[in-house]
Amino acid sequence: MTDVFMNTYHRLPVTFAKGEGSYLFDVNGKRYLDFTAGIAVNCLGHAYPPLVKAIGEQTAKLNHVCNYYQSDVSAAFAEKLVAACAGMKRVFLANSGAEANEGACKIARKYSLMKHGPGRHTIVSLRGSFHGRTITTLSATGQDVFHKDFGPFTEGFVYVQSGNLAELDQALDKNSVAGIIIEAIQGESGIKPQDSAYIAAVAKFCAERDILLIFDEIQCGIGRTGTFLAYEAYGVQPDIVTLAKGLCGGVPAGAVLAGEKTADTLSTGDHGSTFGGNPLAAAAGFVVLETVTNPLFLKEIARKGNLIQSTIRGWNHPKITEIRGRGLMIGADLTVEAWPILEACLAQGLLVLSAGKNTLRFLPPYTINDAEISEGLAILKAVLA
Ligand SMILES: Cc1ncc(COP(=O)(O)O)c(C=O)c1O
Repeated sequence: MTDVFMNTYHRLPVTFAKGEGSYLFDVNGKRYLDFTAGIAVNCLGHAYPPLVKAIGEQTAKLNHVCNYYQSDVSAAFAEKLVAACAGMKRVFLANSGAEANEGACKIARKYSLMKHGPGRHTIVSLRGSFHGRTITTLSATGQDVFHKDFGPFTEGFVYVQSGNLAELDQALDKNSVAGIIIEAIQGESGIKPQDSAYIAAVAKFCAERDILLIFDEIQCGIGRTGTFLAYEAYGVQPDIVTLAKGLCGGVPAGAVLAGEKTADTLSTGDHGSTFGGNPLAAAAGFVVLETVTNPLFLKEIARKGNLIQSTIRGWNHPKITEIRGRGLMIGADLTVEAWPILEACLAQGLLVLSAGKNTLRFLPPYTINDAEISEGLAILKAVLA
């Protein structure tokens, strides 16, 4: 392993060289079953043939045009994406989740300024949230652990505790707040689905006070929970949606989508991104959308997720205190620390994630089959024993 990388990640002692379907292979040829999908990125598994074909064909045709022009493939991808996100009218294509959330904050602040005048720029977010690593998206991230060493942060962010309606009512001040950003299921802090009554209250306050409702679907979106977007399960309509991770199945990409209120908020010169809407990413994203918007495919994601949850629940394992999540976004709380379990799974050829100190996180590719699920869970059970 090289040591020239900056020391930003807690790297495990493995170097991968290749992937195929639900498996990764390290440089020595050892095979690992992947319950991580690159943290919700490789949603169609590794080297998914239609994705490989689309990227290969696109790279032979056109890799990049500057934002003076459209490309045919990014136009087709953008239209398909807007059509897939109910209530959304326009999209800005970016490269990452943080960049998508930066765009969402800019849109919310400009909308509020144009419509209500200055002083109404606060963005509310939830404690335990994760919205990115840039200075602004760290501000939006409601976890103290990330707020050290890098200040001063972007001003104008406040945090509320999910479930506390009185605090929400007070925080969503119509004279100072532009928007609220929410993950329907918090990923990084431990697979924590929001409560329906809380989301209904957020949506009601937002509508009454003209505060923009922003859903960060970067980890939980693109089919991961068995609906195309995770907020669909709550029956509310956001004003802005952010996407990244699985959007282009492994090619870097992000997107911020705007509904009726904010579709025309940004004007020429307000925002930009050299690689946003890159033809290679767009070609890959088109395949992802074609696959993942199919209702039968989404149903299978839900079924496989239920299979994983019910199997683990059936163990009645003394080290597992709770299993939760939706679709193929699953967390298991342990009585012991998650990291040593993750390391032991790695040694046995199973890749899993942690989320917080005691939670194991499973985000397998949607293309995983039942036999692979059984194989992975058998390894996990043996490790826990
Ligand atoms: C919910 C959520 N938002 C934003 C981000 C940041 O995305 P990126 O790492 O692509 O900037 C992440 C990454 O884990 C995420 O899970």
